[in-house]
Parts: sequence; C-alpha cells; structure tokens
Amino acid sequence: MIILAIETSCDETAMAIVEDGKKVIANYVYTQISIHTLYGGVVPEIASREHIKKITYVLDATLKEAKMKIDDVDYIAVTAKPGLLGSLMVGINCAKTLALVYNKPLIMVDHIYGHIYANYLEDDFIFPLLALVVSGGHTELVLMKDHYEFEILGETMDDAVGESYDKVARVVGVGYPGGPIIDKMASIGKPTYKLPRPDPGDYNFSFSGLKSAVINLYHNETMKGNEINKEDLAASFQEAVIDCLVNKTMKAVSEYKVKQVIVAGGVAANKGLRQRLGEEVTKQNIKFTIPSFKYCTDNAAMIASAAYNQIKHENNSAK
Ligand code: KG4
Ligand code: ZN
Repeated sequence: MIILAIETSCDETAMAIVEDGKKVIANYVYTQISIHTLYGGVVPEIASREHIKKITYVLDATLKEAKMKIDDVDYIAVTAKPGLLGSLMVGINCAKTLALVYNKPLIMVDHIYGHIYANYLEDDFIFPLLALVVSGGHTELVLMKDHYEFEILGETMDDAVGESYDKVARVVGVGYPGGPIIDKMASIGKPTYKLPRPDPGDYNFSFSGLKSAVINLYHNETMKGNEINKEDLAASFQEAVIDCLVNKTMKAVSEYKVKQVIVAGGVAANKGLRQRLGEEVTKQNIKFTIPSFKYCTDNAAMIASAAYNQIKHENNSAK
C-alpha cells in the first residue's frame, strides 16, 4: 500500500511517499522557520501564504525524490486537524484536488496520531503501549491497547511543553524556536537554580507556573544588576521539565503495566528527555522507542504511517 501524505498544519510544508506505513520512499520538508524567526514565533497569515507559494514545488520535489508519478500511489493522506486553520486548508485543498483528479481515495489524518505513528516508522508496536506526546501545542499521556485506539490518561492544564520552551527562550533572548536552543544550552550548563515541579494531580501536567518562575527569576536578577548564567538557567528549567514528564510517565507505566513506551512530537527531539526517559524505561525491561530526529518535528512520513494504520483499522472494524 503506497501512500502520498501531505502535512501543512503549522510552519512546515511537507510531503512524503511511504509504503506499508514503514518504508519511506520520499520525505520532503520545506520549513518556514527562517521567516517566522524574524517575528519570534509563527505568524498564521504568513504561514498560510508560504504554504500556498511552496506546495506545488514540494509536490514535484517529493515525486522526483521517489522517482514516481501520482498514478503510482494508492492513497492520498492529509493532516486534517489540529493546527492553524489557514495552513491546514492549503494541504487539504491540495489533497482533495489530487484525489479528485487522479481518482484516489482520500484519508484525513489527525496530526497527533501522526506524531504517535512516527514511532511506527522505526519499530513495531506492542500493546498495551504508552505514548508521551510532547509538542508545541500538546502534552498528553496516551494509552493504546491496540492500533488506532487512543485513550488520553492526562494532559496539560495550561501550556504545552514546547510552548513553554519557546516562551522561556524568548524572554531570555536566545531566539526561536526555543526548544533546540535551550536543549543545547542545558547540555553546557548545570542545574544550579531552584525551580518548582508543578503537579496538578492524576496524569495531568502544568508548565505555566514553571515557565513563570524562570521568567520571574530572570527579570528579578536582571533588575538587581546580578548576572544570570543563561546556560545554568536552561539546565535548571530542562531538569524541572524532564522531572515532571518522567515522573508521570513512569507512574502510568507501572499502573497500566505497559509493554512499550514511545515518545511523540517535536519535544521528543530533546536530548535530555531522550536520555533520562530511555534509562528509566529500559531499567524496567520495557521496550522504549523514540523517532529519529527528522521524524520528531513536523513531517509527512508520520502522516502516511498513521494513514496506513487508520486504513487497516477501518478495514478490520468493517469486517
Ligand atoms: O511537533 P512540532 O514540530 O510542532 C507541533 O505540532 O507543535 O513541535 C514543535 C515544538 C516547538 O515548541 C519546539 O521548540 C519544540 O517542539 N522542540 C524542542 C526541541 N526540538 C523542538 N523542545 C525541546 N527540545 C528540543 N530539542
Ligand atoms: Zn506537530
């Protein structure tokens, strides 16, 4: 089953061609990061216009990389939600047009399921499975008892993890997107600043208090004329974030007796999180899977993999 997938939910215009949900034949990502960096974050109107400008180019580049024609694919898949409305519409219109003109079935995919299935590109799933979803817009613990069955155990009560990284980076004045920059600074610094580990109970998360604590500390020290070691502050923030994520994940691992833990979303690229969670999970003899860096942030290969499993799941349910 060969799927051509399209992803335009935020600031990446991406397309991929994937066979049987695993074999990536082509994966093309045009990122708008350099444009949005000028504004310190994604500007929705600019994002939509950039998708419009680039989408046919990305389609041509993807087909060229795969050495294929649209007629060679079996399905067209596209990210349907969640995301920036104008950006999503560009991808959806493109997918609908291709499906109509080339007479291919169209599969509408949830972006978060795409991030989860980025792991399927790397490894098979064993159930029950726990997915820690950490992106710019989402922070969730999701229990899966089978393919395409998602039970949200808990989620953030306020900011998403990636969002808090981006906000801290903006205040500290180190650029956009904040995640990769703070992650790199954290690897140089030491966690010398005392910061809270907010816990709203159950399997829920809260990051806005932690983010505000970092911002207040930074402002107070700067106003007093004290020098802040930005690398140490980054390391302290990252340690607090990882403590919160790892504690909740490990609690769910033991309660639900899961056989595999996977990490999904842009923050899965975080080196500190990959290492700490990997160590904790494997210590319990549980399988740990994390996407390679190129499949952590937004891409269309993950959408194709989710679409493949969605089609299989729908076919099984219809039987
Ligand atoms: O999944 P994604 O590409 O887009 C959404 O669906 O939101 O995630 C983007 C988020 C941004 O907030 C970015 O700062 C964060 O992922 N991110 C990271 C790292 N790389 C990207 N956060 C922490 N550490 C990283 N290495
Ligand atoms: Zn995403």
